Amino acid sequence: MAVKLTYYGHACFLVEGGGSKMIIDPFLEGNPTATVKPSDVKVDYVLVSHAHGDHWGDTEAIARANNALVIANHEISVRAANLGLRSHGLHIGGGYNFPFGRVQLTPALHGSSFPDGSYGGNPAGFLLTLEGKNIYHACDTGLFYDMKLIGEKGIDVAILPIGDNYTMGPEDALRAVQLIQPKVVIPIHYGTFDIIKQDPEKFKAAVEANTSAKCVVLRPGDSLQL
Ligand code: NI
Ligand code: MN
Repeated sequence: MAVKLTYYGHACFLVEGGGSKMIIDPFLEGNPTATVKPSDVKVDYVLVSHAHGDHWGDTEAIARANNALVIANHEISVRAANLGLRSHGLHIGGGYNFPFGRVQLTPALHGSSFPDGSYGGNPAGFLLTLEGKNIYHACDTGLFYDMKLIGEKGIDVAILPIGDNYTMGPEDALRAVQLIQPKVVIPIHYGTFDIIKQDPEKFKAAVEANTSAKCVVLRPGDSLQL
């Protein structure tokens, strides 16, 4: 058994492990870099970090088509339930042991309104523990010093935004790597739109010159096996 991460562009990953399949932040329709359509996605769980359209994305369509459980903060889980979807609400700092493994919500410095402007609670990141691996998906956030506390758990893979403008840019993401000290870093949330254009190879070079982490640049459609 191994955990497999497949990048679908922007902040979206398919995670296979613990006997389940889950998708994180399924922004596919309207994502110019996405390599799959919502109707192609077969999952048991949909994890949503915050309510912005480029993260909530196709949650409704995917969760409905798969009868998948939506895992998110309380406010997003209530919205999902009101749409007739199955949902499980958590809150920041809280975690729950699901059949596939554990999901804990981590802090994120960001916003979380739904595309219609309604309240989506506080934004979060995810600490996933499955098959003995710790995966920290920071989701949309600025740099914060408490990333060091998350890193103290021993992070196998840190998934960090580098796009700047809406989230950390490459310089702060490098500082995040220094705080978290993960084994592997995957940069995300860049290149989807011109305003968040970045050079991931330049980021990889900076990470590998300044930290002991390995940086893996995934193109949409690429996978990493842990
Ligand atoms: Ni956002
Ligand atoms: Mn975003």
